[in-house]
Amino acid sequence: MEKPFFQITTEGQFQDATERAIFNPELYWEDIAKTFRWRKRWTDIQSGNLTDVNVKWFEDATLNITENCIDRHAETHPDKTAIVWEPNNPDDTVKKFSYAELRSEVNKMSNVLKACGVEKGDRVCLYLPMIPEACFAMLACARIGAVHSVVFAGFSANALRDRIKDAKAKMVITSDGLIRGGKKLLLRNIVSDALEGCDSVETVLTIKHTGDNVQTNHLDKWYHELKENASAQFEAVEMSAEDPLFILYTSGSTGAPKGVVHTCGGYMVYAEYSFRNVFQPENDDVFWCTADVGWITGHTYITYGPLLAGVTNVMFEGVPTYPDCGRFWAVCEKHKVNQFYTAPTAIRALMAAGDDYPKNYKLDSLKVIGSVGEPINEEAWKWYWKYVGKERCPIVDTWWQTETGGIMISNLGILGEQRPTFAGRPLPGIHPVLLDPEGNEKEQTEDTIEGLLAIKQPWPSMIRTTWGNHGRCRAVYFTPFLGYYFTGDGAKRTKEGMFRIIGRVDDVINVSGHRLGTAEIENAINEHDKVIESAVVGYSHDIKGQGVFAFAICEPGTNSEGLSEEISEKVIDMIGKIAKPDHVLIVEALPKTRSGKIMRRILRKIANGEHDNLGDTSTLLDPNAVEAILAAIKD
Ligand code: PRX
Repeated sequence: MEKPFFQITTEGQFQDATERAIFNPELYWEDIAKTFRWRKRWTDIQSGNLTDVNVKWFEDATLNITENCIDRHAETHPDKTAIVWEPNNPDDTVKKFSYAELRSEVNKMSNVLKACGVEKGDRVCLYLPMIPEACFAMLACARIGAVHSVVFAGFSANALRDRIKDAKAKMVITSDGLIRGGKKLLLRNIVSDALEGCDSVETVLTIKHTGDNVQTNHLDKWYHELKENASAQFEAVEMSAEDPLFILYTSGSTGAPKGVVHTCGGYMVYAEYSFRNVFQPENDDVFWCTADVGWITGHTYITYGPLLAGVTNVMFEGVPTYPDCGRFWAVCEKHKVNQFYTAPTAIRALMAAGDDYPKNYKLDSLKVIGSVGEPINEEAWKWYWKYVGKERCPIVDTWWQTETGGIMISNLGILGEQRPTFAGRPLPGIHPVLLDPEGNEKEQTEDTIEGLLAIKQPWPSMIRTTWGNHGRCRAVYFTPFLGYYFTGDGAKRTKEGMFRIIGRVDDVINVSGHRLGTAEIENAINEHDKVIESAVVGYSHDIKGQGVFAFAICEPGTNSEGLSEEISEKVIDMIGKIAKPDHVLIVEALPKTRSGKIMRRILRKIANGEHDNLGDTSTLLDPNAVEAILAAIKD
């Protein structure tokens, strides 16, 4: 596919685009939107604003995103490889799908979904391993107009059930099993546990992958059986630009995870726009994002962005450390990867394994290497730069969120100064500001200023609502500072306009790039019948970025033997292994203010080992609580 005009390759174009987007944002995005395939063009480019929380883009236009991801490429270069699937075991067979084959796979799955009664607007929950069918299923939903809700396959049955229920999913698509590294999980059996009390589910569509025997019931259909007679033709359903494309659940500082809703038109425009500008793909490039499709990174930079841009996209089933810590580099060499996108936690783990691994592979195909999900520390950045990028590939440290739909702040490939720990400048069309706690925009009064990161102007892929509860969307993101989208992050900005993300300013912790609400983990801990109260904080962790430190008060007289492990098991059971506390400390009391609020600031310091620097504890209801906790840690 021809490189569209909006792929910026020079500093001059960058400046020009930035100015045009400020001068007339609507025209800026309209020109970009025109490069896509629509069934009907819009009359109104954008309506609503960040105050009324009713932003819409291209509202009366119609389209089907899959015609842009698949058909326009299948028509012009049907034989080009769309997806290269690298299996968990390096000796197993790689699967490749051309754009024409992708079209026929997605059409077949669309026909199967339709035959199972899934219709436009229905929700379909995907609980799948990293197999090509995960992409096909997302695209098949989009093709028939159903709303997909992908749940990361590391979540427990309880967490899956909550998400199925909230979305009232009509169908669950899963596989018999999942294999990652040396571990196997029987996903279909987990779905059985999750389905208790989920009345909305009419069908469980299971993909045969590992060949294991799994429990099935009257709701089950095997995909390979239905696929046999499914037609490879399917007419994509016409969607309104503002129809929901998908729901993706994410954690916040309070309550249950919320379903972030993205819509068909605006998300599509920004997915390709950000993908092209940040990664700077050439026509025959091979792109690889190592995320899981269960996270937003997997949505925008595995399924949608690269396919919209018509590149060749690697999808990997395994883990960075299997069969050894050279696996990422082996895959880069094997598939001649040009753009590689991963998470700081993986970089730190591979850095700890030694410099020899990347040295043993030919990485000269790499052109741009990226990082996402959490701040990348300077040491990891430098290692990535030297041993993976060989001091010649720009690093794109991409800041964004589930709610933003696409990358908001990052260098554009080679454009922008390479400065470790700095994400860089915002993409043209994105207007981040730093606010003080009263909501005033901070002026650049010094070389570097710091504040709360907020976005000032609507952009096409911004969150539209939280599923089933618009009030929550308004309250969480748009009420803290009227007229702004509030990110929940703190950041610094230099006088050159470069942003450095500091991290969350709310009760959200980021473990290995996974976002977890402390309240959510506390709720899980409190489910243990011996626990009276708990408090969870994040602490600095060498590999994971942040670790989970839990403090729990138990019923008097409880036998503490094995209790910490039991509490950890409870968290695994309620949420999944990703939320397992690294430490569970049984305590007599928690430090509270006189009004009963837990002083997390003190717990954070204790968890980080800053025992001599706890600050003012005079306002505590019971100052002895701190002493008791410190004594418990020493034991
Ligand atoms: O705190 C920021 C951090 O990840 C949060 C968003 O998490 P999630 O919605 O799960 O999306 C992760 C993948 C986009 C942000 O609020 N974060 C993300 N990217 C970066 C980052 N922190 C620092 N630097 C980044 N590049």
